[in-house]
Amino acid sequence: MTDTPNTPAPAVDLDALLDQLTLDEQVSLLAGADFWRTVPIPRLNIPPLKVSDGPAGVRGGGPLVGGMKTAAYPVGIALGSTWNPALVREVGASLAREALDKGAGVLLAPTINVFRSSLNGRNFENYAEDPILTGTLATAYVHGLQDNGVAATPKHYAGNESEYQRNSISSNIPARAMRELYLRPFEMVVKAARPWAIMTAYNKLDGTFCSEHPWLLQTVLRGEWGFDGLVMSDWGGTHSAGPSVRAGLDLEMPGPARARSGLLEEAQHDPATAAAVKERAREVLRLIERTGTFATPRDVRDEAEKDTEYPDTRALIRRAGAEGMVLLKNTGILPLPAGKTIAVVGPNAAKAQVMGGGSAQMNAHRQVSPLDGLREAQGAGSISTAVGCDNDKFLPVPQVPVQIEYRAQDGGDVIAREEKGQAEVMWFSYPEGVNPMEFHGTLTLTVQAPQDAEYEFSLASAGLSRLTVDGQEVVDNWTAWTQGETYFGFGSDEVRGRRTLSAGAHQLRVEYATKPAGEGVLFAGFNAVRVGFRAEPDADSVSQAAALAAQADYAVVCIGTNGDWETEGVDRWGLDLPGRQNELVEAVLAANPNTIVLLQTGGPVTMPWLGGVPAVLQAWFPGQEAGHAIADVLYGRAEPGGRLPQTFPMSLKDDPTHPLNPDVQYPGEGGRVEYLEGLYTGYRHVDQSGLAPLFPFGFGLSYTTFDVSNPRLSAATIGAGESVTASVQVKNTGSRAGSTVVQLYVHDRVSRLDRPAKELKAYAKVQLAPGQIETVTLPLGMRDLAYYDDAAHAWIAEAGDFDVLIGQSSADLPHTLRLSLSTDWKEPTS
Ligand code: BGC
Repeated sequence: MTDTPNTPAPAVDLDALLDQLTLDEQVSLLAGADFWRTVPIPRLNIPPLKVSDGPAGVRGGGPLVGGMKTAAYPVGIALGSTWNPALVREVGASLAREALDKGAGVLLAPTINVFRSSLNGRNFENYAEDPILTGTLATAYVHGLQDNGVAATPKHYAGNESEYQRNSISSNIPARAMRELYLRPFEMVVKAARPWAIMTAYNKLDGTFCSEHPWLLQTVLRGEWGFDGLVMSDWGGTHSAGPSVRAGLDLEMPGPARARSGLLEEAQHDPATAAAVKERAREVLRLIERTGTFATPRDVRDEAEKDTEYPDTRALIRRAGAEGMVLLKNTGILPLPAGKTIAVVGPNAAKAQVMGGGSAQMNAHRQVSPLDGLREAQGAGSISTAVGCDNDKFLPVPQVPVQIEYRAQDGGDVIAREEKGQAEVMWFSYPEGVNPMEFHGTLTLTVQAPQDAEYEFSLASAGLSRLTVDGQEVVDNWTAWTQGETYFGFGSDEVRGRRTLSAGAHQLRVEYATKPAGEGVLFAGFNAVRVGFRAEPDADSVSQAAALAAQADYAVVCIGTNGDWETEGVDRWGLDLPGRQNELVEAVLAANPNTIVLLQTGGPVTMPWLGGVPAVLQAWFPGQEAGHAIADVLYGRAEPGGRLPQTFPMSLKDDPTHPLNPDVQYPGEGGRVEYLEGLYTGYRHVDQSGLAPLFPFGFGLSYTTFDVSNPRLSAATIGAGESVTASVQVKNTGSRAGSTVVQLYVHDRVSRLDRPAKELKAYAKVQLAPGQIETVTLPLGMRDLAYYDDAAHAWIAEAGDFDVLIGQSSADLPHTLRLSLSTDWKEPTS
């Protein structure tokens, strides 16, 4: 798949090389050189190794915003919705080529934490609420990358199921839930795909930081599962020198060393630490070797922006985007007929939502909006559009050039000048002479006021900031700066101001200053500022959109969220769509009954208008080709191939982490979050509580229909250690080609320990032409029948009867087969 095939590295004798390293040099390998590189040792021809985020593209070595352009793939939950490991493997292989173009030998991906609360800010980046679905897709992704010479880094190991106080909170997880839900995808991917690296989570686990947790890193990961790759910390997530090294953490990131700055001294005085240093240094060398970096140093030329060169990448992103879209409702209005007039309205109509926020964001080659996609598919003449309302969390960032002047301090001489492409700057590098720890920046930009009116302005920043408009102060985020939710929780909240402007150009000037050293920062010298600007929303905009919709044959209402709402460092706001979006749907629906809701979110939302609308398509954040993939599905050129990887609860009170003890269970209290719901998340919670979800796990409609029949087991009784297969016949009973996902769940009829009513154990996606029949065979082994017994420290499948439930969603399982296990089976753990 890669154009530079993975050249096998000449065998480097790692032990011999290691023996040549001084203790000093060994220590130097155990923390990054900078944000994305390891430390080279030219004396011994040890090159630096470059890593890059991940997971929905390869951002490259630049800043989180405004860096090199790159291909943006569907986000995790969109891939999770495909239930298609073969497709995810293709995505992994394609990303390997992207990584090579960015000079990276390691991709910081995939993100494989299992959904717990529907409010986790990073659910969009992960795959699913179910460990088996997550583990199988992660395995495919890792194979795709590593078969093409690029290391994968499954993350965040472990217990990072929410962003709330993630840098300090302790996830206190009952042992069974830990094993059966949260460790399971990591176990699967380590055993089946042998990733060359893994990233620890920021949080603590039962009081100990994951980055220095011997049980997690040595006992389980290396000891039990046989992991033989490199363990790196999340960025800024290393908290000690000797203890983290002795606990099994190989690499502190980013560099230069912060927590490990005293490691050399510690190692010089403590033989156990020195021995651990050598062991850890070996892992860094091994990763350099495995990625072929000794033979072909990757980070030797400029990063490449390849877009038009790779039509296959565009096609893959478009196909994968469509395959992840979940048709939640369709009374028959979809697919749309050609040649009709369509009003494409809503805040996400002209604004493409291709990705979530945080470290997973990148500067996409293209951002095709639903409006652009539908226009291209339909021809411009028959499409009208209106914004209807906004869904801004923060005011939009002006996409205009920004001039920056740097001074050592306020009032000093200008020491450097720079231009940036937009009014948000997250500094990852500085012009020569600028000290990231202490500088003063003046940013100037020009915005256009379309008419005489009142406008809103805002600032959010990691340092101190204030904004003047035409010389007059409008926002002060300086005198009373307080730490808030932006910039991974290390920036302020957004501070707003207003000013009436005449139509035309206006000068904005932002003064920015670093905060005094020692205050809570992500890493030393972390600086960022974001300027917001927009016209006051028009009070009539909803009715204007409805009036437009009334004149069209169809209305497509493009609503949802964006990467400010669904992001890293802060959890989701709730489950109700922000702003006036529900009102917009109701108004458009009242004006035109042929209203299709196009939803783009990173997780569940409530849908008070669901009963009235004829169709709802959940498109998630499907990557740079978003609008094309959406148009493909709406017009039926592609089918909506997605099935929900997450239960959509009816309301927040039905969320698994809400009913018991709201604070300590979610988001956490007193520095800890207690996973009181244990095993009962997602559909397991639905079953246990007897809830009716808004949409069940595994659900999604097709443009055709399927019949699943003839269920069989290859044996009705098996003994300990044996396996069995279940098969069904699937027939496409409609008149269009399409796919469905056959899902198999196991129910243990009698169990010594409490078990969920059913657990997903296997699935298969089948693509069938009209009338076509295929037999689907799904394997079942001992672990599929077992629970984790925390008292016995073992996986146990008890002799007795199991129901094998087969169907097309967690709520549509018409077939039950009886399987008997004749003798107990046990697999001990540590
Ligand atoms: C994220 C990681 C990411 C790293 C580097 C952290 O904030 O949690 O997932 O890989 O930054 O950008």
